[in-house]
Amino acid sequence: MSTTTISTKALEITEREKQRYAQMTPGSQAATERAKKVLPLGVASNFQFFDPHPIVAARASGSRLYDVDGNEFVDYNMGYGSLFAGHSNPIMVEAITKQAAEGTLYTTPSVLIAEVAEALCERFPFEMVRFTNSGTESTMDAIRLARGYTGREKIIKLEGGYHGHHDLVMMSVRPPLEEAGPEDRPNTVPYYGGITKGTATEVVVIPFNDLAALEQAFAENAGEVAAFILEPVPENMGIVLPDEGYLAAAKEICHKHGALIIFDEVKTGITSNWGGAAAVYGVAPDLSCLAKSIGGGVPIGAFGGSREIMGKIADWTVAHQGTFNGNPLVTAASLAVLTKICTPDATAAAIARNDRLIAGCQAIIDDTGLPAHTVKLGAKGCVTYVPERVRTYRDYKKTDFELAYAHWIYMMSHGIFLPPGLDEQWLVSVLHSEEDIDRHLTVFEGFVREVTS
Ligand SMILES: Cc1ncc(COP(=O)(O)O)c(C=O)c1O
Repeated sequence: MSTTTISTKALEITEREKQRYAQMTPGSQAATERAKKVLPLGVASNFQFFDPHPIVAARASGSRLYDVDGNEFVDYNMGYGSLFAGHSNPIMVEAITKQAAEGTLYTTPSVLIAEVAEALCERFPFEMVRFTNSGTESTMDAIRLARGYTGREKIIKLEGGYHGHHDLVMMSVRPPLEEAGPEDRPNTVPYYGGITKGTATEVVVIPFNDLAALEQAFAENAGEVAAFILEPVPENMGIVLPDEGYLAAAKEICHKHGALIIFDEVKTGITSNWGGAAAVYGVAPDLSCLAKSIGGGVPIGAFGGSREIMGKIADWTVAHQGTFNGNPLVTAASLAVLTKICTPDATAAAIARNDRLIAGCQAIIDDTGLPAHTVKLGAKGCVTYVPERVRTYRDYKKTDFELAYAHWIYMMSHGIFLPPGLDEQWLVSVLHSEEDIDRHLTVFEGFVREVTS
């Protein structure tokens, strides 16, 4: 099957399925039009907007999401990977319902903060932790702490890496190739407007899986780099696995140059393994950032490190605050998630279901010769529309995005809610069933057979 034929088929499928999507979602379209009058793009975050219009949700439960038109979706977006516990997991609902009646905000400590901190310290390679309200805040605070600890100002980040929406990390998130510069020494490209040129000078951008580029970044900025921040497994360009030994070697290079290594485990956190990607790869970072799934659907984040590094907050070298940090509502939710819902057994079972989904998708790809491959990490997975393994952002940019979009819209219009944006991955939660996996495989096979026929 030639790639031209597949492209033609993909465009045909896209046209047809867009119409089908529009026919099944008039209520979502109308609700979006109404919202557009009072909210830019009609959404609360740019990432919620997608073409032709987003699904406007009415309710969700377990693995299912229902829209205002009454359509039922098997949700594999799961709040962009925030709902490993499933939608409104009954154990979490019970915990927050009880807590809501007993106070949602004290702004003085509750016992819950130590309980959740202990649960996190048990899983992740840190001794102390502080709470935030989002992944953005977790990476922002971890970077500030790294700067305060080292007394240095610059950071190194990956091309194609996303760490939230504070200015310092809004660099080279999706740089257009014509602005991106050389592959082994990329330019620092601000992600849209409103970010100062001065901020860009504080960020050195390197490709993933390239230790020589990391060494060079340190050599060119000797004595100035506070930290290298990265997702140990980048999950904002599909799923990109590190080369064997890359993470351990990167940590060694950072330490050789007096800098810290920060793992952004906002996505990989409890979804990749009970102890996160740090446990999968056996590499402990100096600081870890968490959010998304540790809250089971409510906004809580955290960052943690050694007693020595976190001590810079205790001795007031570095400030860390926030009115809603560690509030009882979200800590009650998080405690339920960490200790009662996403247990080692439940985590392993969800990962096993994802393994079956991945294996099934890969078998369909192999059988049809679709120019794509599957990638997985723990309970997450994706189909990447390039035949070869992706190691860097530049590899990822070789994706056949038309084919990827045809896949996405086909799945949506057949009731499988995959994350919009094409650079994300699905999540199998602890509440997804074997039947959900079968449904996903059946719809995927329908798409692949048609596009390759
Ligand atoms: C790796 C990573 N870090 C940080 C963030 C920011 O998290 P939040 O959206 O909760 O601010 C995200 C969000 O998608 C993320 O994927």
